[in-house]
Amino acid sequence: MNGLARACWLGAAIYAAAGMIFGIVMSASGDHSLAAAHGHLNLLGWVSLALYGSFYSLFPVAASGWLARSQVVAAHVGVLVLTPGIVLAIDGRTEALAKAGSIIILASMVLFALVVARTGTRKPATTMSAAE
Ligand code: HEM
Ligand code: HEM
Repeated sequence: MNGLARACWLGAAIYAAAGMIFGIVMSASGDHSLAAAHGHLNLLGWVSLALYGSFYSLFPVAASGWLARSQVVAAHVGVLVLTPGIVLAIDGRTEALAKAGSIIILASMVLFALVVARTGTRKPATTMSAAE
């Protein structure tokens, strides 16, 4: 596994575990007011990062260079900023962190589009071709 895919999947697993603990605490307490923070921690932390990790595994050639590294760093920073940002916004304290997190998450997706476009029509690194 290349380093960038590992950084995606390891982060994804950690965010998933944190998101699940968050969900269990919500269920146990009966207080679902922070459900949006839990949902986005799971969807952006677990689902999105796992998808990025799958892409970088399938196309290792895409995983090298500053563009791909910046994309993954932005995805991690976005989750780490947006999740507490949603909590603070729901609590009515400040929306600043949620806004900053949203922009960082969006930047990460735009960078991902550039990485995919740059990868072009190269073949994925699978064993499929050997099996064909
Ligand atoms: C141990 C695992 C989990 C537990 C105990 C759990 C628990 C919960 C609870 C109690 C709610 C609030 C439901 C409501 O008020 O209607 C919720 C909402 C939600 N959960 Fe989970 N959850 C878990 C895992 C996940 C995972 C893995 C995902 C996504 C991949 C996810 C995505 C969501 C979403 C999108 C919402 C709705 C958020 C919103 O209303 O804005 N959850 N979850
Ligand atoms: C920049 C990134 C994102 C921002 C700023 C954002 C913002 C929001 C907001 C403001 C809500 C309404 C919350 C509420 O009413 O409590 C919401 C709900 C939701 N979002 Fe996101 N979102 C983002 C990305 C995503 C992504 C990537 C997914 C899925 C992969 C997703 C799935 C959902 C779901 C399932 C709900 C709950 C819908 C419902 O309760 O009917 N969001 N989001």
